[in-house]
Amino acid sequence: MNAMRLGEWVELLREKAGGMPGLEGVGDGLAGLVLEPASLQPYLHFRRGRYTRNLIYRDARLEVLLNCWDAGTFSPIHDHDGQECWFSVQSGAFVLENYTLEAGGLGPGPARLGPPVRVGPMGAGFVDFRCPEAPIHRVTATGGPAVSLHVYAGPVDRCLVFDTRRQRCVSRELRYHSVFGRPLAPLPEAPAPSVPL
Ligand SMILES: [Fe+2]
Repeated sequence: MNAMRLGEWVELLREKAGGMPGLEGVGDGLAGLVLEPASLQPYLHFRRGRYTRNLIYRDARLEVLLNCWDAGTFSPIHDHDGQECWFSVQSGAFVLENYTLEAGGLGPGPARLGPPVRVGPMGAGFVDFRCPEAPIHRVTATGGPAVSLHVYAGPVDRCLVFDTRRQRCVSRELRYHSVFGRPLAPLPEAPAPSVPL
């Protein structure tokens, strides 16, 4: 059977999102899903030493991104602004470190995290789910170039980024590297080597 194309899959997701509150069943549909590589091409934007966030689709209840990771790059430890988040490996390999919140950390300020629980390395077809009850993780691309597909319900424009040494977190605005396949002009203040997803 031929692999599904990205555009077809987004259409199915939009139908699902329009038919019910929340996105129940998205994880089942993503499990083992590896989309046709050529259909990802407009959204593949790699940069040395960092990863990029590339917008595929967005409406009031749904955001779909393709993130492109240089090997060895990693996200900060971050949450997802109270939204549900599905993370699907399309190529390469990732290690996920999941954290529990022991104190604070519901807004900017003091935040104490428990020790990380490590998952992986995980390859193509693997799906991770973050929800408001377990929102905090760090993602590292251990084998690359690596590509991950992300679904948020709904869109995430800010998140908290955690510093375990100082036991604090700060709010950070999220940015796109490209929108609907078109790269955006770089901002004057260059972002950190890795930008949270
Ligand atoms: Fe994340």
